[in-house]
Amino acid sequence: MLRFHGDAEVAPGLVDLAVNVRQERPPSWLTDPIAASLADLARYPDPAAATAAIAARHGRPAEEVLLTAGAAQAFTLLAQALRPRHAVVVHPQFTEPESALLTAGHAVDRLLLDAADGFTLRDPPDAADLVVVGNPTNPTSCLHPAARIASWVRPGRTVVVDEAFADTVPGEPETLTGNRDVVVIRSLTKTWGLAGLRIGYVLGPAGLIAELRRHAPLWSVSTPALAAATACASPLAVQTERTIAEGLTADREHLVAALRAAGVEVAGRPRSSFLLIRVAGGTRVREALRARGFAVRRGETFPGLGPDWLRIAVRDTATSDAFVAVLSDVLGG
Ligand SMILES: Cc1ncc(COP(=O)(O)O)c(C=O)c1O
Repeated sequence: MLRFHGDAEVAPGLVDLAVNVRQERPPSWLTDPIAASLADLARYPDPAAATAAIAARHGRPAEEVLLTAGAAQAFTLLAQALRPRHAVVVHPQFTEPESALLTAGHAVDRLLLDAADGFTLRDPPDAADLVVVGNPTNPTSCLHPAARIASWVRPGRTVVVDEAFADTVPGEPETLTGNRDVVVIRSLTKTWGLAGLRIGYVLGPAGLIAELRRHAPLWSVSTPALAAATACASPLAVQTERTIAEGLTADREHLVAALRAAGVEVAGRPRSSFLLIRVAGGTRVREALRARGFAVRRGETFPGLGPDWLRIAVRDTATSDAFVAVLSDVLGG
């Protein structure tokens, strides 16, 4: 079940609260260069300019950046390039890192965080030579302190932070993109609604980035995806990202307040574009929601969670209100 993802919950006619990709159309300063790049498709893609743009956006040298076909590809490359003796994945989290490690033949230990304390971060065992954590974490929506994650760095250990949703938090207070000792994975598919384009990147020490590049399939990031990366690295993009994150925060607070007013348990302190709820009889509730037109993400495929946990994407307040009304009805019935 590690390869089950929210897209499997969605079907025509359902309101999609299962996939954490923003649904608004990307701005024209983003779609125009993507469209213009189609004139160039006869040429093999050259990632140099986009890599330089992403490096400049994060104040890093280009040798510390690798563009990937979505953040997802980065997990596969890391699993292929690294030879961990004791890999630890902090759960519950996105399952692709663990899946990639297992597929590459590595054993994986799980560090399970606890719902009882709001999924507060705990430290990995000393013997761990690879640690993977999400921040903010999918599906809990918890934002962990960057300093705590940075404190895990030591010689012989690789610390990987999946920051696919970092840009959903206004100002990115806990990002580790400026820390040259950790490996940070970022996605451009969520906020920018580009899941079908496949574009993300890795920031990390130059030696490791060179090793990941050696494992990457030739030309795996397409010319339109490179055009998107360049556009998303501009000051306008960074400013827009913040404005989107601020609007999202307000929408999320509205949803959290409505859920709690309806007596629904919301896990921890949500900080990203989704949140986790716990309801009795989760499977029945999820199926009833589906019958009433809402697709939500089941929790039981995430290590550490069970079927009573459901992940809900934050949408506009009208959609959230309609959802909470139906959920209240389902829970009351
Ligand atoms: C936490 C997390 N990391 C990474 C990814 C992969 O993102 P991308 O579309 O950039 O491959 C996802 C996608 O759902 C995710 O939830």
